[in-house]
Amino acid sequence: MTTILITGGAGFVGSNFAIYHKTKHAEDTVICLDNLKRRGSELTLKRLKEHSILFVHGDIRNKEDLKFDKKIDVIIECSAEPSVLAGLNESPEYLINTNLMGAINCFECARLNKSKIIFLSTSRVYPYDSISTLPLIETETRFKLDPKVHIQGLSDKGVSEDFDLKGFRTLYGATKLSAEYLALEYAQTYNIPIIINRCGVIAGPWQMGKVDQGVFTLWVARHYYGGTLQYIGFNGEGKQVRDLMHVDDLSRLLEMQIENFEIGKNKIYNVGGGTKVSLSLKETTLLCEKISGKKIKINPVKENRFADLPIYITDATKVNKDYNWTPEKMPEDILKDIYEWIDANKDSLRGILN
Ligand SMILES: NC(=O)c1ccc[n+]([C@@H]2O[C@H](COP(=O)([O-])OP(=O)(O)OC[C@H]3O[C@@H](n4cnc5c(N)ncnc54)[C@H](O)[C@@H]3O)[C@@H](O)[C@H]2O)c1
Repeated sequence: MTTILITGGAGFVGSNFAIYHKTKHAEDTVICLDNLKRRGSELTLKRLKEHSILFVHGDIRNKEDLKFDKKIDVIIECSAEPSVLAGLNESPEYLINTNLMGAINCFECARLNKSKIIFLSTSRVYPYDSISTLPLIETETRFKLDPKVHIQGLSDKGVSEDFDLKGFRTLYGATKLSAEYLALEYAQTYNIPIIINRCGVIAGPWQMGKVDQGVFTLWVARHYYGGTLQYIGFNGEGKQVRDLMHVDDLSRLLEMQIENFEIGKNKIYNVGGGTKVSLSLKETTLLCEKISGKKIKINPVKENRFADLPIYITDATKVNKDYNWTPEKMPEDILKDIYEWIDANKDSLRGILN
């Protein structure tokens, strides 16, 4: 019987993984800790309760909130201010105190409990200038990486863990990378097994998508409820591309990592859908129109947004090999799942997603 602490456990990834794990391992104790800062995270509390998951209203910025009666065996650190625009035109205090200082409190909790820890990091640790200046091929619907370009850590599969980290990466990316460095030092100094997953875009039901985070939910929600959207930057044509990964595929990987921790111990993985599970905004629109049967107005905005990228594709070869894991859900499945979730919860989600 294992006790798992999921910080940010009422959030998108945390709550989905908690339910995924508890459904498979009813005998385990799953504790979800969250300060409910993310609008909409309160809606997940009912789901957690229905699955006999314990909820603690706590804040990782506060060490006292990370003390428990039971020994914690595994920590999944999913709490964060996850917006890439966080700290822009505002104080970075909350961002730094949560994503860095709060993460250190979680590592301390791991040290005191001798627990294993999986840290959810981000592809945003890779510098934006190096990625946004890569030569690209432009097709009717998307940008593509030029296969003729040879740069360390880049191939036609996308960005691997060897990509150079020199350069600016946003405050969000910097807090995550700093936390990664501290996590690895904790692992080395205190013998705490740790796995770091640098995730690309994660999508699926229960993501409370907003303009600056959760773009695929935002796109489906606008098509569902009506309203307008914008193709921001890169000539306003919606050709910017991201790979995406269904939260169930990520949950399946987290489960494998918990069960076979030794394989990934003290390693960093790029985790994402890869080229096969990628979409441009323009392609996302076409799929949303197909799924919803609706067409909405999308306004072009020529000017690029701060630190935005024309393309990001995860090269997940390392994690594919180590865990024999590949994403199963394709882009259309992911958007359909989001659509069905919104449809089933249209009244409670209206004020949050609309
Ligand atoms: N969603 C993505 O596309 C994506 C991509 C790459 C990495 N990540 C990382 O994955 C993790 C999970 O992201 P998510 O999409 O579930 O985000 P989310 O915003 O849905 O969930 C994060 C949760 O953390 C909680 N939280 C924020 N500050 C807290 C604090 N100080 N103390 C306790 N709880 C706090 C929020 O209320 C929220 O419920 C984050 O670390 C994020 O950086 C997410």
